[in-house]
Amino acid sequence: MPSIDLWYTTRASGLVALVLLSGTVVLGILTAGRARSALPGFARAEVHRRLSVLTVVFLAVHVLTAEIDTYVKVGWLAVVAPFTSSYHRTWLALGTIGADLLLAVAISSALRQHVPARAWRALHWLAYLSWPVAVSHALGMGTDSKLTWALGLLAVCTAGVVVAAGWRVAGAHRAKAALPRTVIRARRSIRSRAAGATPGIGGRP
Ligand code: HEM
Repeated sequence: MPSIDLWYTTRASGLVALVLLSGTVVLGILTAGRARSALPGFARAEVHRRLSVLTVVFLAVHVLTAEIDTYVKVGWLAVVAPFTSSYHRTWLALGTIGADLLLAVAISSALRQHVPARAWRALHWLAYLSWPVAVSHALGMGTDSKLTWALGLLAVCTAGVVVAAGWRVAGAHRAKAALPRTVIRARRSIRSRAAGATPGIGGRP
């Protein structure tokens, strides 16, 4: 494949991977927060899972074409080890860190049956971290991401993730605030039910 085609493929697959990653993060947040929607929870979780697989596929194409393209020398070590390439050292390192975080999430999910639930959840949180890291990488070293249409695309992705994260945080706060009232109401109802069931004062039925 000529170098120019590889370069176009790197750029296109990078942008597609970022859009898919944003969609995966948004769906993950909505599924974890049990958002009400037309799609039942299990279906949303399945779409989330499939989108994450697609993200990894496009990311693999992105990295592979960037490496095969001989016009710039990225270096194979930079696929997994950040700050090892002299080509846009810091911006590329952010891409590597984002890919490493996603790899950890992907591996722990594939081995979910063998990973303790707490450890799996902690690792899954890395996906949240990979997103801003990947966006910074794209903004820092992308060719297209300096153009209006691509900036618009990144803005839509950012808005989606920020709104979903805000909804989740607000929901968690609401649940926390509602908990004492629920507990109080439950206690009152238990007490009144117990009072109704117990014999009257003086032992009369
Ligand atoms: C989560 C991981 C990553 C994501 C989501 C991602 C996504 C992107 C995006 C959206 C761009 C901008 C494309 C453009 O606007 O032209 C880009 C640029 C680039 N990425 Fe990544 N990337 C990731 C990791 C990596 C890794 C690990 C490497 C290489 C080892 C890499 C190599 C490059 C290169 C060389 C460019 C510059 C392409 C150009 O010249 O425009 N990326 N990436």
